[in-house]
Amino acid sequence: MPVTRRADGTLALGGVSLAEVAADSRAGTPSYVYDLDAIANEARELHAAFEAAPHVVHYAVKANSAPTIIRTLAAEGCGADVVSGAELELAHRCGIDAGRIVYSGVAKSDEELDLALAVGANGIKAIVAESVEELARIAARATAASRVASVSIRINPGVDAEALDTHSYIATGHDDAKFGVAVSRIGDALDVIARSPSLRLVGLNAHVGSQFTTLDPYLAGAKTLFGLAREVRTRFPLAFVDSGGGFGIDYGDGCAVRPADFIRATRVLQREFGLDDLMLGCEPGRALVAAHGVVLSRVIQRKAGAGQRRWTIIDAGMNDLLRPALYQARHRIVPVHMPSGAVNGPWRVVGPVCESSDDFGMHDLPEGEVDLVAILDAGAYGYSMASRYNGRALPAEVFVRDGAIAQVVSRKPLLAWVEERLAETA
Ligand code: LLP
Repeated sequence: MPVTRRADGTLALGGVSLAEVAADSRAGTPSYVYDLDAIANEARELHAAFEAAPHVVHYAVKANSAPTIIRTLAAEGCGADVVSGAELELAHRCGIDAGRIVYSGVAKSDEELDLALAVGANGIKAIVAESVEELARIAARATAASRVASVSIRINPGVDAEALDTHSYIATGHDDAKFGVAVSRIGDALDVIARSPSLRLVGLNAHVGSQFTTLDPYLAGAKTLFGLAREVRTRFPLAFVDSGGGFGIDYGDGCAVRPADFIRATRVLQREFGLDDLMLGCEPGRALVAAHGVVLSRVIQRKAGAGQRRWTIIDAGMNDLLRPALYQARHRIVPVHMPSGAVNGPWRVVGPVCESSDDFGMHDLPEGEVDLVAILDAGAYGYSMASRYNGRALPAEVFVRDGAIAQVVSRKPLLAWVEERLAETA
């Protein structure tokens, strides 16, 4: 667990006491707190798993688009996987070379495609086409811009949805998913590329889904990807294969598969398929950042209900961390202060938002005074999915490095939202 408990019973992240963060007037609660050193270390471990093989770790920016985190990962040699024109521009401006950015997404607008064609001297590494129909549109935009677009095809490997050991909302590599080009339509996709002088096929991608806690579904997707790559390269000189992201983390349920295990297993397959000369890419988001971020939150009050029901109501809600409400995801919640001898009991932890799904589940918390709690493993798909629902301000963001607070992005004042909404319609 990346948080540690000090001898005085206080919780710390990256060597910084979370009680101090809560007391810091720039931060307060609710705040996201991130350990940049640990994030950099995740990237290093992943790179090491490739050994000497040529590779690019495309960080999936959607997991956490804080510029400080993107810059940290850029400094560790990561490229980026982006899914919108805005993410593309952000990644590039945070120091990721255009030649290391892949751009996926089922509905890239013409404006976004034009942006992807214009970034960098030669455009980005690859616009990842998600349909045969989209390839024709990319060709048209590239022709209009007098550019040759480097494209990759995202294949949908059609892995049996039952075999995808994850929540159905985050499984993407099965036949009913809107993502990628069905294997049966790859021939059509190749024909469009062969006919279009403004398209250059540079790679093949796959992304089967997220939060896999075993290697099997991931490797099933990679096998289909590599089998196709072996055929396709007899017609087109591919530069890379990219087997996507999805490496799960341990949210407290004991997932023991490390991100590096996925890479090592993929490398074995790559050799078996005779693709060792191709650059191997991957697109992890969660595995790099999730475990190294927490939501720091204050207990507003406790409440007793009918019978034995009782709630600990905190100042962070589903607008700050949507995963429990959206996917019934469970994040551990622990008290920031844990004096020796404190007795814990089960409490239902809920947020302030007017929805019954604003509920973080049952957690063991001190029966006595509890002022601050930390929601663990919130570094991925936390702030990036946050909203201002119920007129709530977005949480603050605190970045920790070398055992000290390196940067704080403060929360907007309570009524900033009111002023902004009124100004928009003035
Ligand atoms: N590549 C592609 C094409 C993707 O669509 C995704 C995630 C990734 C890579 C990175 O997946 P990761 O390594 O982070 O699992 N909001 C959900 C997760 C949605 C993932 C969407 N695509 C959650 O909170 O669990």
